[in-house]
Amino acid sequence: MKAWWAIGAAALGWATGGVHAEPEIFKGADLALGARLLQENRCAECHVRKVGGDGSGIYRPLERINTPGLLRGMVEQCNTELNLGMFPEEVSAVAAVLNRSHYHFK
Ligand code: HEC
Repeated sequence: MKAWWAIGAAALGWATGGVHAEPEIFKGADLALGARLLQENRCAECHVRKVGGDGSGIYRPLERINTPGLLRGMVEQCNTELNLGMFPEEVSAVAAVLNRSHYHFK
């Protein structure tokens, strides 16, 4: 799970440092919380089974998920389907972390 720690650390760095363009819906998102939720909910484990590697290959910005809203919607869908019980602001936090680490929507 090394990659996820890296993402968490990176998210923390981003959260505290400098100006960074980001979509309106992710403004004020708690990136440290999002990174922690990604680990606690074992998001990567299941993705690894599907795509191998560290699982991050499942995040494909240029395909189906091509807006911030769709990204957040996908996380919400996983939340509902898997019964994770995340609150709306937690879903946003997770999506915001994925945006910083993989999707880079502006
Ligand atoms: C039980 C297995 C499983 C778990 C657990 C899981 N996912 Fe997924 N996830 C999938 C599968 C399978 C896909 C691919 C769906 C497809 O390609 O149609 C996917 C796709 C995604 C995508 C879209 C990727 C893209 O760009 O198309 C996102 C975002 C995502 N998952 C986020 C999460 C998050 C966040 C969590 C943890 C809160 C999570 N997933 C937990 C199985 C899982």
